[in-house]
Amino acid sequence: MEGHGPSAYAGAMSTGASFDLVIRGAAVADGLGAPLAIADVAVRGDRIVAVGEVAGRGGVEIDGAGKVLAPGFIDVHTHDDWAVLAEPQHACKVLQGCTSIVVGNCGTSIAPGGEQVVARGGGFESIGAYLEALDNDPASVNTAALVGHGSVRTSVIGLRDNRPATEGELSAMRALVERAMVDGAVGLSSGLIYEPGKYAPEAELVALAGVAAAAGALYTTHMRNEGVGLLDSIAETVRLAEQTGVRVQISHHKASGRGAWGLVTQSLALIDAACAAGLDVMADQYPYTRGSTLLEQIVRAGELHGFGPEGDLTPAQVLIGAAPHHPEWEGRTLTELAEEWGCDGRAAADRVVAEEGRGCIVVLDTMTEADVETVMAHPSTLIGSDGIPLGGKPHPRLHHTFPRVLGHYAREKGVFSLETAISRMTGLSARRFGLADRGEVREGAYADLVLFDPDVIADTGTFTDPTTVPAGIDRVWVNGVCVAADGEHTGARPGRALRFSR
Ligand code: ZN
Ligand code: CU
Repeated sequence: MEGHGPSAYAGAMSTGASFDLVIRGAAVADGLGAPLAIADVAVRGDRIVAVGEVAGRGGVEIDGAGKVLAPGFIDVHTHDDWAVLAEPQHACKVLQGCTSIVVGNCGTSIAPGGEQVVARGGGFESIGAYLEALDNDPASVNTAALVGHGSVRTSVIGLRDNRPATEGELSAMRALVERAMVDGAVGLSSGLIYEPGKYAPEAELVALAGVAAAAGALYTTHMRNEGVGLLDSIAETVRLAEQTGVRVQISHHKASGRGAWGLVTQSLALIDAACAAGLDVMADQYPYTRGSTLLEQIVRAGELHGFGPEGDLTPAQVLIGAAPHHPEWEGRTLTELAEEWGCDGRAAADRVVAEEGRGCIVVLDTMTEADVETVMAHPSTLIGSDGIPLGGKPHPRLHHTFPRVLGHYAREKGVFSLETAISRMTGLSARRFGLADRGEVREGAYADLVLFDPDVIADTGTFTDPTTVPAGIDRVWVNGVCVAADGEHTGARPGRALRFSR
């Protein structure tokens, strides 16, 4: 902490006004990894105006003794583009201490609208229009947006066209990405296992990532292969950084499938080597050994029953998280459904896909704990939930990512210090994604704050009961306004649309 002497708040005091809020005596985490330090934090309006010993009274006084006061958590990897509009209180994130989200990951964003977006219940013509909609009808959290390569490609070429873009199409796509950058998108995302991302030749990605690079924005990528092909995927990603100079964020860094376990040691070494060579490559991660994606994706890729690149996914490892037409299937494995239907697991998967299509989200048991910890301990790793806000039994990462990192991984397993853990979900995240004056507790920063009990904070959700409220979060403020207290949402919606700033 710096500049917290009496002069820091003398101006405010001389006006005779009190602070709107003072949180007293908490152990303050600055968001950049400095050791916790006991301090008072004073807020006026939407900003932190003093950190230190605060003499004036606040309109609201909070006793923070015994608690940690941290910057609100920033979820850099979400698929909340639609949810934050449809359910603007966004309790799944607010109640875990999250104050800002980045939407549009893995190649799919709500804008620019095309067939795919419209099919999912309406999109926006541009990122600018989306951010304006959030300005006009605010959510409880702040929202920043990536523009999805898949959404751009869909609106220009179509979802299922497995061919390179023509020159005219490429310049149309480039124009859409440029427009998104002008509108304030924080970067371009890709999803190279999904349609239509997987149809994009490297040259197309280079051309479009170059547009993000010119704006100083990020390129985030769900890479082509996270299984036995992980190292080739990292190499492809690093090559793209070399060719464009773009800052790269590898999404949900992991080694998926038994045959790939252990590869993270080498993938982290490749990231280190890229950074040593002057490139800017980082990653994000969710804190679980299970993943979650579309069942259709797994069936098409032939990943069930020992087929395909991942090789070893069995029906027992596939749990239904969302099945909009058959909620009674949610929370059950393909093995259980196959038994009930008197068929094998593959046939059960085919039936679910036939009836649910892209609406079926599954939870997959594919990683090993040692790899999760190895990735988390590495300084290139930020925290992002990758939660998918659909269905009755979503992967518990949707509601519990941040408390799980602080409770299970920092406190119980000692993967890293509490301060370091917090920095990887606050200050470092804000800097990486261009969110000015967010993610830090210091004078002048926005008052996005979370007060929690470091001895108690924990995830409470399980795979069969994933939507519980995490433990240990006392209070959450967004732009100086309290959005959650003692596990209850206050109903306030002080969130803002965030536009990229370098
Ligand atoms: Zn992804
Ligand atoms: Cu994702």
